[in-house]
Amino acid sequence: MTQIYFNEERLSLDDFASLCAQTLHRQDFPLARAAEKNVLIYHRDDLLTAAKTDRQNTLAELHRALSSGPGVFAVQGLYDDLAAIDRSSNLFEAILASEAANGGGGDHFAKAGSNGRIWNALQKVAERDAEAFVEYYSNPLLALICEAWVGPGYEITAQVNQVRPGGKAQQPHRDYHLGFQLNEVVARFPLPLQILSQYLTLQGAVAHSDMPIASGPTQLLPWSQQYAEGYLAWRDPRFIAFFQQHAVQLPLKKGDGLFFNPALFHAAGNNVTGDHIRTANLLQVSSSFGKTMEKVNHVKVLEAIYPALLGKKLSAAQLQAVVAASGEGYSFPTNLDTDPPLGGLVPKTQQQLVLEALQQDCPAEEFNARLAEHERKREA
Ligand SMILES: [Fe+2]
Repeated sequence: MTQIYFNEERLSLDDFASLCAQTLHRQDFPLARAAEKNVLIYHRDDLLTAAKTDRQNTLAELHRALSSGPGVFAVQGLYDDLAAIDRSSNLFEAILASEAANGGGGDHFAKAGSNGRIWNALQKVAERDAEAFVEYYSNPLLALICEAWVGPGYEITAQVNQVRPGGKAQQPHRDYHLGFQLNEVVARFPLPLQILSQYLTLQGAVAHSDMPIASGPTQLLPWSQQYAEGYLAWRDPRFIAFFQQHAVQLPLKKGDGLFFNPALFHAAGNNVTGDHIRTANLLQVSSSFGKTMEKVNHVKVLEAIYPALLGKKLSAAQLQAVVAASGEGYSFPTNLDTDPPLGGLVPKTQQQLVLEALQQDCPAEEFNARLAEHERKREA
């Protein structure tokens, strides 16, 4: 009989260790350019070329990499336009400075001073510099990777993490959703729900600085996402010790990306350099069926960036990517009395509203009015 509930007593380090001892077969992931320490390494050009010929096959390979594969991959040159990275990095510095001056910007995960953190960097960037936002999120490769794990209609949130020289490593853990909960809460979720939850979020990191090993890029334990009982295991000293012996780290270059299944055991590393500040924009991509960790005010984001979108020449793929990062892409929850499913179709999403307005060259003021009306009729 399938066991639905379980507790820490059922954890098996042997089972965990044998899952983590799997060997990566490169031929299973033909689009990867390399594999190092059981981490697949993709290259921007290869993925974009492959997606042109067979988008679905490309999505499928990336999905497998995160589920039946090692659970993590790097993408070299996720951003080929490093000016877009630097422009956002400058904004991050300005936001960190202004939040520090206001006594905010705390990071609950690290000792004060060794770490900088910007919560909801997505909205903050949109409101400060719409052009920078559009440049950053009109990245079709990022959109492809998001869709590969969580399907269409996803929602992006972003948190900047800066680890300064001397910054200490994190304890290994799993991420949102259940990675944030106490063991007694986790134990109340039926095991199938625990497994399901990892399919609702994709964890990503965009390197905003080079990340040599000494600067402490994320420590990763390939295959550990496959241990079904893992949400109760990561605080167990035996599993922590195993992680510390077997975790791997890969250096990243500015503009590279790292993506992993949120159930993968991982931890930020030690920054043992004397002078290297490691900065990443941590992307958390939520399936339209999940709840995001952060609340983003998409109306404010769209009002901020719409004028920049109007004046910009973007390819269809770039436009799709930036709209996917800025507006809600899912019709529900809504008020079906006032926002009915006309003609049997799902009610219009914010993303459809923006795309339609852009196609009609609708002035910003008129767009804002439509957006407000759209919001109003969706309220209960
Ligand atoms: Fe994490």
